[in-house]
Amino acid sequence: MTTRYRVEYALKSHRRDQLIEWIKGLLAVPFVLHSQPTAIYHEHSDTLTAVAADTHQRYAEIFRDVEQLIRDHIHHEQTNAPGKSKLKLLVPTVGSFFTPLLIEDAFKRQDRQRSISRRRFVAPSFNDIRLILNSAQLLGLQRNIDLVTFDGDVTLYDDGACLTPENPVISRITRLLHQDRKIGIVTAAGYTEAPKYYERLAGLLDAIRDSPDLTPAQRDGLVVMGGESNFLFRYDATSPHLLSYVPREEWLLPEMVTWQEADITELLDIAESSLHACASNLSLPVAVLRKDRAVGVYPLNGSKIAREQLEETVLVVQNTVERSSVGSRLPFCAFNGGNDVFVDIGDKSWGVRACQQYFGGIVPTRTLHVGDQFLSAGANDFKARLASTTAWIANPSETVQLLDELQEIEGQ
Ligand code: IMP
Ligand code: MG
Repeated sequence: MTTRYRVEYALKSHRRDQLIEWIKGLLAVPFVLHSQPTAIYHEHSDTLTAVAADTHQRYAEIFRDVEQLIRDHIHHEQTNAPGKSKLKLLVPTVGSFFTPLLIEDAFKRQDRQRSISRRRFVAPSFNDIRLILNSAQLLGLQRNIDLVTFDGDVTLYDDGACLTPENPVISRITRLLHQDRKIGIVTAAGYTEAPKYYERLAGLLDAIRDSPDLTPAQRDGLVVMGGESNFLFRYDATSPHLLSYVPREEWLLPEMVTWQEADITELLDIAESSLHACASNLSLPVAVLRKDRAVGVYPLNGSKIAREQLEETVLVVQNTVERSSVGSRLPFCAFNGGNDVFVDIGDKSWGVRACQQYFGGIVPTRTLHVGDQFLSAGANDFKARLASTTAWIANPSETVQLLDELQEIEGQ
């Protein structure tokens, strides 16, 4: 029988962020009660300014209360009483926060930029709240960032594209290195050899090599983690591709050492046959690609696969692997890559943790992961929330804006 829960889940829950939806609901009330859609728009209307000030005040109060609930949630988790968290009761899917989020101040910053409380027809949106939470995280980190990890596709460059020399993110990443911060590019793109990564990242790697401001030690602060958590490369000025493969024994976390090759093969076999079944059931114009540590489907001759078909494929494969016995022994990540579906061994929580360990044990509270995929199913940056603080961007220009905002906040 198809339960209502399953229908709801299948229809939407994997495409919603419960915390953001809940905040959106709280803000809808003052929006409805205070907005004045019928007021006449004059250039300097005193009434509208007064209404906006009032609305701003009410939104700010809500954000202050949410900020307090998050502090309370952190406190209960730290004192081993997570059941007492009111936030957990209100938003059962909420995870852990490594730092407080300064949401009230973040709202004030974003309201200045986006005029949220001056809007009369459009209520505070998912994107407004996502950007406020990003600012709140940057403020909450209070200059204490030692490691920034970035997703690749959609975060640093457009989906499937390369990081070319004119990309404005390059100067921001070199600025972070210059500040003695470490950088990890934690991408699903899983290649076993340096030239492939050089092809994708040449603009950044060349700029790091050529930057007169960086010391050799600062340049060494860059690593690339491919296949979510499977292949580590470090910056290496002596390599023609500016990257060198780091053997697994030099960076695997103790838990990862226990992952058995036989289990890896078995998990990928199950995922592969499930992908084949989906492709045939949904008549997808795809080929199946089996790799060392991943298996995926990608479209043949440049065709575009419908989002619903990608999502169905992810959910079927994830479900099938989860129900297998090897799926409970080995972490894996099934995700919708925009126009392909991949299943990788491990996930970005392991990728970020491995970078933290590689750089000498950087803690989650001093790590920020920037990515575009934070929905709970079918998205691969989501797991990074287990290992670090996070910022959820929607495109590469938002990554640049985020890094500039960080610079501005830290300069204050
Ligand atoms: P990300 O956004 O940087 O995590 O990159 C995700 C994209 O990398 C996917 O959508 C795929 O197109 C591509 N990709 C290439 N090789 C792999 C692999 O081995 N596993 C997963 N994704 C891969
Ligand atoms: Mg991405």
